[in-house]
Amino acid sequence: MSRNYTNIDRAISFFDKLLKNNNKNTCSTYFRSNPAEDLLDSSLSDSEKKHSAGLMRVNHAGEIAAQALYKAQAMVARDAYIRQEMRQSADEEQDHLYWCESRIHELGSHTSIFEPVWATGSFAIGLFAGSFGDKWNLGFLAETEHQVVEHLNEHLSQLPVNDHRSRAIVEQMKIDEAAHAALAENAGAYELPQTAKKLMNLTSLVMKKTAYYW
Ligand SMILES: [Fe+2]
Ligand SMILES: [Fe+2]
Repeated sequence: MSRNYTNIDRAISFFDKLLKNNNKNTCSTYFRSNPAEDLLDSSLSDSEKKHSAGLMRVNHAGEIAAQALYKAQAMVARDAYIRQEMRQSADEEQDHLYWCESRIHELGSHTSIFEPVWATGSFAIGLFAGSFGDKWNLGFLAETEHQVVEHLNEHLSQLPVNDHRSRAIVEQMKIDEAAHAALAENAGAYELPQTAKKLMNLTSLVMKKTAYYW
C-alpha cells in the first residue's frame, strides 16, 4: 500500500514539475557541469542557428520522454535493485535535459510545445513495457538507449561543424546513453523482438519530425 502511494507521489511530482516548467531542480544525484561550458560560442548563420535549435529541441524532447519512460519503468519494476538503477538513469537524464535546454535558449529558440504529449505518451509506454517483467523492462531500456545512440550519431553528422557547444553536449550524451544500455544489459536485459524494435523506431520518428519544428 505504502509503495503505491510513493509511486503515485513520484508520478505526480514528475508531471507537476514538467507542467510548471520547473525541471531545473537539483534532484539529480550528481548534477554534472555542462560539457559546453568551457567552449567559445561559434559564429553561426541564422539558418545554422535555426537548424541547430531544431536538432537540440528534438534531443530535449527525447530527454523528456526518457525521464518519463524510466520513471514509469521504475514504478513497475519488481526487483529493488533494478528499480533503483532505473531511477538512477532517470536522474542522469536530468543533466541532459538541462544541457539541451540551455543550448536551445542560447540559440534563441524554445523547447517543444508538445512536451506534455511526449511525457504522457512515454510514461504510458514505460508502464506497458514494465508490465512484462523486469528482464523485458530492461530490454526495452537497453533498446531505447541503443536507438538514442544511433540517433545522436545522426545528429552529429547533421549539426553545423562549427557548432562546438551543441556538439560537445551531444557527444557527452552519446557516451552516457551507451553506458545506460550497458547497465541494463549487464543486469540481464532480454533482447526485444525485431517487430518491437521497429515499432519503437517508428514512434520516435514521429517525435523527432514534430519536435524539430515545434
Ligand atoms: Fe539522455
Ligand atoms: Fe539514457
